[in-house]
Amino acid sequence: MASKKTKICTPTDEIRYSLYEHSVQDAPEQVRLFDRFYRELGGEEPQILREDFAGTFWISCEWVKSGERRQAVAIDNSDSPLEYGKAHHLAELDKQQQERVAILKQDVRERIQPGIDIAAVCNFSFFGLKSRKDFLEYLRSVHASLRGDGIMILEMVGGPGFIRIPEKETRTYRHESGDRKGKKWYTYRWIHKSFDPISRNGVYSIEFQMASGERYKDSFVYDWRVWTIPEVRDCLEDAGFSTSVVYWEMDDEDDEGEVFCQTDKGLDDDDTWLCYVVAKK
Ligand SMILES: C[S@@+](CC[C@H](N)C(=O)[O-])C[C@H]1O[C@@H](n2cnc3c(N)ncnc32)[C@H](O)[C@@H]1O
Repeated sequence: MASKKTKICTPTDEIRYSLYEHSVQDAPEQVRLFDRFYRELGGEEPQILREDFAGTFWISCEWVKSGERRQAVAIDNSDSPLEYGKAHHLAELDKQQQERVAILKQDVRERIQPGIDIAAVCNFSFFGLKSRKDFLEYLRSVHASLRGDGIMILEMVGGPGFIRIPEKETRTYRHESGDRKGKKWYTYRWIHKSFDPISRNGVYSIEFQMASGERYKDSFVYDWRVWTIPEVRDCLEDAGFSTSVVYWEMDDEDDEGEVFCQTDKGLDDDDTWLCYVVAKK
């Protein structure tokens, strides 16, 4: 294919959320992992999921599809991702499934009705809560909403590679079906803009470069505090959680075909690591 001339454009919400989901989310896999973590921490049949910083709440919609009694509460404080989620994920559910998804447009620190089995925050979104005060307020709100055997799952990232400036991760995707199957579709770029080691505040962005020429710079920009695992576990304890464990992303699958394994020791040669911190009420 002849390369097209690049032009810098602003993506519509439709474009940026669909490319974001395609590049960085796998909601069915996350539902499977949440179920597994809940059972491994001693629970039996998780029914009610709280998806925090839910964005387009794809995980909530997959959750209600995965069991007839399952319900989800999706919380986000912004209209645009919620509207995308309603048009794309909620609309795909049948009426009975739709009734089992509650969408709350509010701050994650606000209190909600108790009764939650699993509260989850994916793609490091709690890094947006930068002060210990705000983070603790959030964790206490989650703690109060959980049932007695409820768990909280926090997806985290870190390592020297994650705080290196400048740094870029690039992945190219090809069309998966249709006339253009196998042809280059777009390139996803994760860009490190700044990192301050004193505050651990970092600014990151996502851009998409379409094979058709459009370059969507700064489709998403994140201004985060890159929390460390011990800080997060200490805050969980201070918020009242009884215990927490870490599921570390391994390079290879274990005997059960799992990539995330519970461990007390991270692999220190990982330039950038991913893990889930899972806390019990
Ligand atoms: C990085 S996106 C995460 C989207 C999706 N959950 C995922 O895993 O990819 C972060 C989302 O958090 C929302 N958000 C940020 N601060 C929030 C807050 N204090 N309360 C509720 N939602 C918040 C934003 O509107 C945005 O949709």
